[in-house]
Amino acid sequence: MDEDNRLVSKDIEEDEASLEGSLRPQTLADYVGQSEIKHELSVYIEAAKQREESLDHVLLYGPPGLGKTTLAMVIGNEMAVNVRTTSGPAIEKPGDLVALLNELKPGDILFIDEIHRLPKIVEEMLYSAMEDFYVDIVVGQGPTAHPIHFPLPPFTLIGATTRAGQLSAPLRDRFGIVEHMNYYRIDELEKIVSRTADIFRTPIEEEGAHAIASRSRGTPRIANRLLKRVRDFAQVSEQHNSIDKPIVDHSLEILGVDNKGLDGTDAKLLKTMINYYNGGPVGLSTLAANIGEEADTIAEMYEPYLLQIGFIKRTARGRMVTEAGYAHLGIPFVK
Ligand SMILES: Nc1ncnc2c1ncn2[C@@H]1O[C@H](COP(=O)(O)OP(=O)(O)OP(=O)(O)O)[C@@H](O)[C@H]1O
Ligand SMILES: [Mg+2]
Repeated sequence: MDEDNRLVSKDIEEDEASLEGSLRPQTLADYVGQSEIKHELSVYIEAAKQREESLDHVLLYGPPGLGKTTLAMVIGNEMAVNVRTTSGPAIEKPGDLVALLNELKPGDILFIDEIHRLPKIVEEMLYSAMEDFYVDIVVGQGPTAHPIHFPLPPFTLIGATTRAGQLSAPLRDRFGIVEHMNYYRIDELEKIVSRTADIFRTPIEEEGAHAIASRSRGTPRIANRLLKRVRDFAQVSEQHNSIDKPIVDHSLEILGVDNKGLDGTDAKLLKTMINYYNGGPVGLSTLAANIGEEADTIAEMYEPYLLQIGFIKRTARGRMVTEAGYAHLGIPFVK
């Protein structure tokens, strides 16, 4: 499968970016699933509003496509403040950060996606900004260089990351609210698929929504992507006025998505571990080199779901395919 057609991929194509916008729920009530997180946030939001204070800083972490960006927008909406969006790699130097902070009004939200990729020197500047709402900037050079104390309005930093482990302890500790996003249940994904189909004005049957949901790897973004593709197949096929189970099965077979939602890359990963390493243990970088993927891509996009459904496990010596993983591929498990 080529990079652009990949269902698991993280990159959002342009048409999909505008699509994502229209599909994003605006309020906590419309945000499907993650009920514990929603409940906690609703309390913190209510309390902050009653005290007329800015919301404490929020760190959202979890695999790609689970709704971190969406949730950040929802929080902004519920707090009735502006959300300024940026990402770790986009803030190259302290001056970039100061420019962003300078635009904030009291209570506003600065959303930093991929916060684990902030340059160190920028990250260090965030410490005082988050804790005491000021930054010290150095102006001038050499002997005339001197620091300027720059006060900031109270603001809320929302950081999102797929790799909480890569965040430094001092940064992590400055978030008062830390939420771990979990994979969605099938019934929750069914709701998301039905909601999206409604927005598209595409009729969908319950069994069709269920079939898409159960092959979406617990991930709303993938559920919406699959729905989009199935909708194309349904549209060109004369027999399908609505999205039913047969058209989902037919489309996903063509797309190379199996009954667990695994695609060609997942299968390649498992088969490489089995055929070349006797099921493991094998290290991440070795595996990456073998199947021609970036180690980061495997660690972020593929491995978490395979771990979640129990097809692989992590050991001190590397990853191993489990008995369930063998069974799924129809390969006898002999150890
Ligand atoms: N709880 C939800 N309810 C309904 N739709 C959702 C929900 N969460 C996510 N979505 C949909 O899934 C898509 C992906 O969500 P989002 O972009 O927020 O994920 P993300 O966690 O920020 O991903 P990444 O880590 O790649 O930045 C969006 O189009 C959004 O409409
Ligand atoms: Mg995002």
